[in-house]
Amino acid sequence: MHLRLLCLASLLVISGLPFRAAEKQPTPLEDQMEEINAAYRKLGRQIADAAKNADSLKQVAIIREHALAALKHDPRRKADVPAPEQAKFISDYQVAMKAFVATVDKLGAALTAGKNDLAVAVLQELKKAQEDGHRDFRRRRITFEEKAAEAARRSEEK
Ligand code: HEM
Repeated sequence: MHLRLLCLASLLVISGLPFRAAEKQPTPLEDQMEEINAAYRKLGRQIADAAKNADSLKQVAIIREHALAALKHDPRRKADVPAPEQAKFISDYQVAMKAFVATVDKLGAALTAGKNDLAVAVLQELKKAQEDGHRDFRRRRITFEEKAAEAARRSEEK
């Protein structure tokens, strides 16, 4: 029984290694996302403060620039999608990213008009777009339970 558990544990570690190595290298899309993230977080701290609108507009411009650059890269998850569905996956991603850019423009317009209450609400729309975008296009994180089930299945096959 203990030996079985030990085997299963080693299998888990070994099977996780190549996956981890491949995931460690940030993708070009992740690089763009990190830039978006830094500017987005700064906006979260200052969006309501009209005295900071000049800098907030700079952050909006940074997000816009990197969202447009993100359009040029395919998400890593494309590789997990069956080949016949990949074209649709990418076009859905592009539609979502373009909608994100449109919301970023809405945020810029609210700040330019000095409507900070509106800007606060639009920032929430960006948050929602982020959550939806990650749910639909980011590679799913594999849970420990899924890994264990996969390792057990493979050891049964042997
Ligand atoms: C405020 C908006 C957003 C922020 C702050 C943000 C932030 C991030 C960050 C920090 C990462 C890398 C780390 C991680 O995986 O968690 C990431 C990855 C990713 N994001 Fe976003 N994101 C935003 C919006 C979006 C939108 C709108 C989409 C899709 C339409 C999207 C799609 C992705 C994808 C696909 C990845 C994985 C990268 C890859 O596959 O190479 N994100 N995002």
